Amino acid sequence: MSEARHTPRVFSGIQPSGGLTLGNYLGAIRRFVEMQEQGIETLYCMVDMHAITTWQEPARLRQATRELAAGFMAAGLDPSRSILFNQSQVPAHAEMAWIFNCVARMGWLGRMTQFKEKAGKDREAASVGLFAYPTLMAADILVYHATHVPVGEDQKQHLELTRDIAAKFNHDYEVDFFPLTEPVIEGAATRVMSLRDGTRKMSKSDPSDMSRINLTDDSDAIAAKIRKARTDAEPLPEAMGGLDARPEARNLVNIYAALANTTPQAVLDEFAGQGFAVFKPRLAELAVTELAPISAEMIRLAGDPGQIDAILGQGAERAAALAEPILARTYEIVGLIRSRPR
Ligand code: AMP
Ligand code: TRP
Repeated sequence: MSEARHTPRVFSGIQPSGGLTLGNYLGAIRRFVEMQEQGIETLYCMVDMHAITTWQEPARLRQATRELAAGFMAAGLDPSRSILFNQSQVPAHAEMAWIFNCVARMGWLGRMTQFKEKAGKDREAASVGLFAYPTLMAADILVYHATHVPVGEDQKQHLELTRDIAAKFNHDYEVDFFPLTEPVIEGAATRVMSLRDGTRKMSKSDPSDMSRINLTDDSDAIAAKIRKARTDAEPLPEAMGGLDARPEARNLVNIYAALANTTPQAVLDEFAGQGFAVFKPRLAELAVTELAPISAEMIRLAGDPGQIDAILGQGAERAAALAEPILARTYEIVGLIRSRPR
């Protein structure tokens, strides 16, 4: 008998472990808004429990969580249409994660590139939470039976693991309970690269602030970072193939395409034969037009932390109501007694 829920439901999360970058915005948050606009049921989570897998200063974590919520709303997520909440307020995530810790294998987790990158050379010194990070992520998704997860390219491996966990659980307990969730990795900006090095991902943890555009950067900062972005002396080619050995140039074309909601080829159709002296000011103008209103709104919303906390609390209440029956059924399948009055 099939118990799997196939009604579309979208879940995604972002760590409140620093400011939002253009990579987060183009690779993830814009997709979140699009899916909300399609009228699908959407849940978007500030994954604070994932953030503490590496050290977070408590006051800074609280502030970053509120800023992230402000960024979500400034970018167009509407708490009356999407469920917005912070992970730690819905204990079902952690409860489900424990069950998945007993389904996933050490070998699976040891192969995760994000763990290898974040743990670095001294794996013995990494937190247990950092190693188990992907089982909590699988729990985030599967505790809602989410069918679609919009993310950037770097999360693909974690989503494959989520499917492996769902499949092993279904197999071991002889049920068809958890859906095999589909990653949604789409658009020109699934992997926005550093402005200083086109072979590295744009990241909030890069020591150089010039390597990224932050959602809180003002117009002058955005324009200056694009002007100083590393490029080459060649004009733009007619086809994307001409950018194969030019990662910095390709990155700027992709960013332009994503911001303008068009394809990289359409950008080349417009700029082929032109150099960066022409292209960069146009890109800066586009980025400022797109991002400045978001950053202004984010700062305005962040000025009322009480309001943000109220929204997160209400979102958590709605999320918990969706998670509860799925967690209860999971306990039953596993053989855990749940008879406490609630
Ligand atoms: P994180 O900030 O690592 O929690 O990532 C949050 C979301 O943003 C995930 O879906 C990532 O895949 C996405 N993301 C982060 N950095 C980039 C980037 N440079 N390009 C595209 N997507 C990104
Ligand atoms: N691991 C994701 C990242 O670093 C964040 C995340 C946590 C997430 N739980 C999730 C993304 C569930 C999508 C779905 O970007």
